[in-house]
Amino acid sequence: MSLLENLVPTLYLASAVLFILGLKGLTRVKTARRGNILSSSAMLVAVIATLIEMGTVDYQWILVGLVVGGLIGAVAAIKVEMTSMPEMVALFNGSGGGASALVAASLLWKNVIEAEGAGTAVEALGTAPGITAVLSMLIGALTLSGSVVAYLKLAGKISGNPILLPGRHVLNLALVGVSLGLGLYATWSVADPGTLAMLTLVVLAASLLLGVFLVIPIGGADMPVVISLLNSYSGLAAAATGFVLMNNVLIIAGALVGASGLILTQIMCVAMNRTLANVLFGGFGAEETASSGGGGGADEYGPVRSFSAEEAALVLEDAESVMFVPGYGLAVAQAQHAVRELASLLEKRGARVEYAIHPVAGRMPGHMNVLLAEADVPYEQLLEMDTANPELKSVDVAIVVGANDVVNPAAEKTPGSPIYGMPVIEVWNAQTVIMIKRSLSPGFAGIKNELFEYDNTMMLFADAKKAVQGMVTELKEL
Ligand code: TAP
Repeated sequence: MSLLENLVPTLYLASAVLFILGLKGLTRVKTARRGNILSSSAMLVAVIATLIEMGTVDYQWILVGLVVGGLIGAVAAIKVEMTSMPEMVALFNGSGGGASALVAASLLWKNVIEAEGAGTAVEALGTAPGITAVLSMLIGALTLSGSVVAYLKLAGKISGNPILLPGRHVLNLALVGVSLGLGLYATWSVADPGTLAMLTLVVLAASLLLGVFLVIPIGGADMPVVISLLNSYSGLAAAATGFVLMNNVLIIAGALVGASGLILTQIMCVAMNRTLANVLFGGFGAEETASSGGGGGADEYGPVRSFSAEEAALVLEDAESVMFVPGYGLAVAQAQHAVRELASLLEKRGARVEYAIHPVAGRMPGHMNVLLAEADVPYEQLLEMDTANPELKSVDVAIVVGANDVVNPAAEKTPGSPIYGMPVIEVWNAQTVIMIKRSLSPGFAGIKNELFEYDNTMMLFADAKKAVQGMVTELKEL
């Protein structure tokens, strides 16, 4: 074996190891930056190895592609707001799926054209690559269109309400049948390049349509789960294309993305106490939330105790331990910097400050971690739910900033509640709970929260940022 022949597999192996180390790094907030750098380096090594393997190619177009793609990625990553990260991830997933589908389709064409009418794609490529090329077109194209719909819903460019078409399951099954049936027929039996081209275009079109039909029935608030699932699909499409190209690193990287996307999807579903089937087929969103959740309107509440920022500051004056519990409202109000300021003030007064992070607080995975990191909250003060819950019993004040469902005791105490069984942050065990939100309106699940009526709960009705800033001002004056 020549040096060059050894070099490429070694580089592929190095790339695969870097991908795995990168993924491992991404599992912890502290090591996430390193994980990102390792994964990007893995991609660079893989690209270099592939170019070496291809030998003499026209580098002109490859360079144009690298510069244009790199620039789009860099500008998007620099410009994107932290809160718009799910939209960007959706578009990137879609691009990955689309690229896999196009590579698979072009390989089928290339091989049939090269056979000059004398052989089918399967004869040229082999059975397994032929089948995986069809799977790659199907999964890749539906990932592209599904991700674009998810992006449009999240960005508010189309309605986030679930659109439930009659007979949609039959329609979806028919589209899967058309894509797979025509795709397999084309690879197995068609030797004419023109016919193959036409059939693959039909397969791609049917798969694109399938992606749209799969995502439009899902409510906008469930889009983070859908995006995570589509991320997994883009990995599967890449792995399938890896089999067509016989490229080991693409198979490994695709499998890693496929598996990690599926694990994240599962984590989100467990944290919401919902099955994946319920997310995908339940149409949970604006229309069904109210009916399943019992509304949670203001008229359902008994007496609740409302307090001012000044009264809240008086409680904090003597607190020795404070735990912040951030939620979606913190993101809406962009209250993270104010929270950090209050935390610093409390620490200066000798209090121990920590943050309890629920896995699905907010509207995307890691939503709260990202916002708190932006405000330079030290990583070691962020506690996962399982660590925070036992500690809450010895906490003087829990400050709930715009969270609702993730601190709702109904999840533990009310069988029959839509969120019964969902693990929550047990703030009610703290000596006092300061609950900051603007009204008695429900959260995402659309249900009543009895915590508002608890004796140790102080409701502070205001925008989260203004409320926390008010507490800072009052505390400084004490
Ligand atoms: P929610 O239960 O959605 O409650 C957020 C609360 O924030 C609302 O009750 C709202 O009450 C309040 N709020 C809104 N704007 C505010 C502002 N400017 N200032 C102060 N408060 C404000 O949030 P959560 O506790 O973070 O729970 C997240 C929910 O989203 C869960 O049900 C979860 O299952 C779901 N979900 C999460 C994800 C991920 S991956 N994170 C994905 C899909 C779904 P007011 O209107 O009265 O102010």
